[in-house]
Amino acid sequence: MLKTIEATASYIGEHIQGNVDVGIILGSGLGGLVNEITIEKKISYKEIPNFPVSTVEGHNGTLIYGELGGKKILAMQGRFHYYEGYNMKEVTFPVRVMKKLGINHLMVSNATGGLNPDFKVGDLMIISDHINMFPEHPLHGENIDELGPRFPDMSQVYSKELRDQAKFIALKNKIDVKEGVYVGVQGPTFETPAEYKMFRILGGDVVGMSTVPEVIVARHMGMKVFGISIVTDSGVPGEIVEISHEEVQEVAMRSEPSMTLILKNLIAKI
Ligand code: HPA
Repeated sequence: MLKTIEATASYIGEHIQGNVDVGIILGSGLGGLVNEITIEKKISYKEIPNFPVSTVEGHNGTLIYGELGGKKILAMQGRFHYYEGYNMKEVTFPVRVMKKLGINHLMVSNATGGLNPDFKVGDLMIISDHINMFPEHPLHGENIDELGPRFPDMSQVYSKELRDQAKFIALKNKIDVKEGVYVGVQGPTFETPAEYKMFRILGGDVVGMSTVPEVIVARHMGMKVFGISIVTDSGVPGEIVEISHEEVQEVAMRSEPSMTLILKNLIAKI
């Protein structure tokens, strides 16, 4: 695994020719941030050795290197979801490569179903914590001590400092932002009303099909993490309506400019 990570990092390193400060993983319908990047290099996942190829609609599968908020960033437009059939090592492989490239800050975005009755469709939520409901753990198997410890601490997965900065940025720009717990599930089905209710009882504020694996691996390697969700549909009793992937993407795209503004300003502060 170490050799594979090194080979992929060295391929990307040769193409970007420069340092990189921040890694970004963009969720469904949230690729608009890319328009804010002064792009220096675009690499299709297909060209990157050992990278799985993204298949889901709304996930372009492009690695973008450039400048955002005065920092050098590497952004994944399109992530690898467990429901697509990848195993957890594949889902989290790009994060391993990011760390190898010298990246110590990871920003992730995602689309979610809202569980908290105070949240409405279109809201932004800064992730304060998560509940891992995936059936496979990304750190399952022999630990590679060069990457991180066998039993990683999870007492503060989402950097308090970055969350506070993001809230300050939101306030300054009059953006209403919530904060709460992300429940990570395997999908690909959206939840039944009974499942949404269960995840609320368990302590969740939103539910989504990504993020948790990548974030666990980032924390395993000691990276600082910031996560932000868009509530694209409601899982609150009495508010649940039929939804589709297209609708999720549409709502995500509508709220995306505010999310981009927060991320851009947050990156500038790193
Ligand atoms: N559930 C799970 N994942 C999601 C949802 C949802 O309601 N909306 C967007 N991603």
